[in-house]
Amino acid sequence: MNKAINETVTSDFDITKVRSDFPALDQEIYGHKLVYLDNGASTQKPRQVIDKVKQYYERDNSNVHRGIHTLSQRATDQFEAARVTVQKFINAPSDSEIIFTSGTTESINLVAHSYVRAFLKAGDEVIISAMEHHSNIVPWQLLEQQIGIKLVIAPINHNGDFLFEEFKALIGEKTKFVAITQLSNALGTITPVKEIIQAAHAVGAKVLIDGAQAIAHTHVDVQALDCDFYAFSGHKIFSPTGVGVLYGKRALLDSMPPYKGGGEMIKVVSFSGTTFNEVPHKFEAGTPNIAGVIGMAAGLDYVSELGISKIANYEHDLLEYGTQKLLTIEGLKIIGDAEHKASILSFQIDGVHASDLGTLLDHQGIAIRVGHHCAMPVMEFFGVEATARASLAFYNTKEDIDALVSAITKAVEMLK
Ligand code: ALA
Repeated sequence: MNKAINETVTSDFDITKVRSDFPALDQEIYGHKLVYLDNGASTQKPRQVIDKVKQYYERDNSNVHRGIHTLSQRATDQFEAARVTVQKFINAPSDSEIIFTSGTTESINLVAHSYVRAFLKAGDEVIISAMEHHSNIVPWQLLEQQIGIKLVIAPINHNGDFLFEEFKALIGEKTKFVAITQLSNALGTITPVKEIIQAAHAVGAKVLIDGAQAIAHTHVDVQALDCDFYAFSGHKIFSPTGVGVLYGKRALLDSMPPYKGGGEMIKVVSFSGTTFNEVPHKFEAGTPNIAGVIGMAAGLDYVSELGISKIANYEHDLLEYGTQKLLTIEGLKIIGDAEHKASILSFQIDGVHASDLGTLLDHQGIAIRVGHHCAMPVMEFFGVEATARASLAFYNTKEDIDALVSAITKAVEMLK
């Protein structure tokens, strides 16, 4: 991140056209043009996603897999087509390995319950990193309490780099599971997931990748990674809230007990015993978020059409531009300056409380997130209670960054 300020952040796509696809971007907040820089928390939705959800509710609304009638068939066809869209998006070998969940949190909890709880025993070790989101910490802590697994924390340094050699030193015969973020929501660090997976597999441990932040910023190929599980949410990739994905290798999914009991996940129910459905349906009890799933397929199609590599290149330049510009502000310190980094600008300003800054920026039309970003151990490591975080998406521009920097300058003058 040490290049000179890149004054020419150019996109390989038509940024004006792209922005016009996102109706929420075109509004004023307190009389200022909205500058939306809270994409790490949730992304805006393009018209293509909104229209798809609307069309489902206006024309096709019905339950899936249950009806013989036309509406149910339409809903089922779109729902199952969405599974194939997800499969292709992450290059999974089979659509049966794509489980629809309510989001990354549920995907991780499913694995905690149906894999780790089912197959690990007291004393077995689960490794996570020091920069995980609470969703990739607490499920494992619960299992520490419930079945006595041991949670081991792989360290980071004060730039926010994942320390791979130190991680390797923690791996041993007791290591049975590794759960790691691909892109830290608090720091923007990109972790070496492929090497992590290889090292874990060398001792027979299984690996879950938390792709909640990475999915919208980097090409994900679960076969090339060879991860055992991959989790992400729709709403962080320009799709509806309340829907997400768990990819799992088929043999593992087949061996795992169900997560929730109910309709759809069974073959036969009788008081003398119940048999379970095949994957993925075994893990999809209850009526799913049908509109969300169909909308998510439209969101993934939108991203595929733009091209994830073009998106990553554009955001990389924007991140460098943003980093250099922010560092011109007196007393501003970037929290997280890892060698491999994407999409996140977390910072602190001497003598300025992050929540005061967030409020004053909102009054100038700038949306950022302030707080601990559901990653309290990261805050503790850096010795801060909170940071201000601007998180980027492909519809952000150099002008957005300039507006952020000028709004911060004004806010700091008011607060000091
Ligand atoms: N995990 C989300 C964030 O980073 C909510 O803001």
